[in-house]
Amino acid sequence: MDKRQELYAGKAKSVYATDDPDRLILHFRDDTSAFDGERMESLARKGKVNNRFNAFIMEKLQAAGIPTHYERLLSDTESVVKKLDMLPVECVIRNIAAGGLVKRLGVEEGSELAPPTFELFLKNDALHDPMINESLAETFGWATPEQLAEMKSLTYRVNDVLKQLFADGDLLLVDYKLEFGLFNGEIVLGDEFSPDGCRLWDAKTREKLDKDRFRQGLGGVIEAYEEVGRRIGVDFS
Ligand code: C5P
Repeated sequence: MDKRQELYAGKAKSVYATDDPDRLILHFRDDTSAFDGERMESLARKGKVNNRFNAFIMEKLQAAGIPTHYERLLSDTESVVKKLDMLPVECVIRNIAAGGLVKRLGVEEGSELAPPTFELFLKNDALHDPMINESLAETFGWATPEQLAEMKSLTYRVNDVLKQLFADGDLLLVDYKLEFGLFNGEIVLGDEFSPDGCRLWDAKTREKLDKDRFRQGLGGVIEAYEEVGRRIGVDFS
């Protein structure tokens, strides 16, 4: 597969065209950002760790019948994916209160959320990804009601698969964000699933083992990602 021009450089990944019009290459860089890019740092091994982590999770989801854009690893830091027409919304499920929910509603961090909550955000850096709802998404054409229903259903199915997977590694899946796109008209999971886009706590100690270590300046960021990966069986060799 030929790697062609860079199409887009995000805060942690770059996207390249290929000789196949329906395939892209995702390059996971070592860059880490927080607070809408206000804090940027390069963390050794991060690109490789997240590339392998994402591949492992996407394969598990695919095996569970959830359509994803992931196809194969290309190198330590690159994966081949289907080219999706991305929808500009972020889907967030929370099993335990943390982060934005705690700030917004004043609930206690760590309280269990039953049933898990589902939130929508608009992907828009300039507006700091504001929270939206189904009505706004429909009116402004960000997604149709049918697409929203499918994204919500898939996001909950991902929760069933991943909550169990992480529980088997003595980890709590606190919350996570997913992004979807269209491939031949079908809603398909895109972007990535790594500790950059979810919260994972040790089930016993509740130690944070995700990007909050970077956001909160706790250190040991990539070591924590590697620890999570080892516990669930990701091959980082
Ligand atoms: O900040 P907040 O608590 O709303 O984030 C919920 C979850 O979604 C967290 O796991 C966070 O890492 C993830 N998220 C993300 N990218 C965003 C917003 C949230 O990965 N732009």
